[in-house]
Amino acid sequence: MVDVVSDYPGDWSAHMALIELREVSYTYPTIESPALKDINLTVDEGEFVAIIGANEAGKSTLCYTLSGFVPHFFRGELQGEVKIGGINLKESSLSEWVLNVGLVFQNPFNQISGSKFTVFEEIAFGLENLGIPRQEMTSRVEEAMSRTGIGDLADRSPYSLSGGQQQKVALTSILVMEPKVMVLDEPTSQLDPIGTREVFGVIKGMSQRGITIIMAEHKIEWVAEFADRVIVISEGMISNQGTPQEVLISPDLPGQGIGLSRYTLVAHQARQEGLWSQDRPLPVTLDQAYSGFSGFPDAN
Ligand SMILES: Nc1ncnc2c1ncn2[C@@H]1O[C@H](COP(=O)(O)OP(=O)(O)O)[C@@H](O)[C@H]1O
Ligand SMILES: [Mg+2]
Repeated sequence: MVDVVSDYPGDWSAHMALIELREVSYTYPTIESPALKDINLTVDEGEFVAIIGANEAGKSTLCYTLSGFVPHFFRGELQGEVKIGGINLKESSLSEWVLNVGLVFQNPFNQISGSKFTVFEEIAFGLENLGIPRQEMTSRVEEAMSRTGIGDLADRSPYSLSGGQQQKVALTSILVMEPKVMVLDEPTSQLDPIGTREVFGVIKGMSQRGITIIMAEHKIEWVAEFADRVIVISEGMISNQGTPQEVLISPDLPGQGIGLSRYTLVAHQARQEGLWSQDRPLPVTLDQAYSGFSGFPDAN
């Protein structure tokens, strides 16, 4: 990472974050009240950040903002500053912005171009627009499809797929572009548990290769497993953030429309019955739950 002297007054030690949002507020054209309010957020290169929050809290809108669809597609009024790699969103076009940032939409149907007859062509679409030579394009598409396990869908029509298959195609069409930053809006909402596990495996692989991941997700157990940092959005504002361990056991979460993980719930109950140490933090992952319960030989 490049160390630069920050231009932020009084914050000399700060290094340059890859993503910087300062005082960001956004209002959709047809709606009076802002969907995002005073968002301040920095994300480092390679970080995996999860966004959680109730329905209508503003998760998708934050995803659109990071990926340039706000304001370049949705219009409306964007206040404050959104920068990625030092480039200002307002001074960039959507076609420039998407070279660095890929968005996997919450509804995969929105991702499908509508102009391609096969899944293969659909996934190749972005590379084709960039004028990538045929041979390189083919090998990149095949590699991306094998990573998400959809090689067998290559010749199918994008419209003949199930919601879960469409979701994998949508992810693959972004993956193949190899963006620096991937923004994923509930990328497994239409997948069964097996498909969810597969897709999270792919996303984790991206993260391990140094791609910065920002993911809106309500499947808390997966967030706990993968995210470096969790951001809670409530009524368009960041209401809490920290490590999964700090944020996901907060008793405030259910009041904000967010469920606790089953590991946290079970251990909470167990603690009331003396089966979970008072001093041990409640778990958010299976591993943490397992080691906490292993400390109670009498419980077996
Ligand atoms: N395309 C849109 N046009 C107008 N308002 C929208 C649009 N999308 C979302 N909103 C509004 O913005 C707020 C935040 O919604 P959203 O970002 O979709 O929340 P979440 O993804 O957390 O459910 C809600 O009040 C919602 O009704
Ligand atoms: Mg949403």
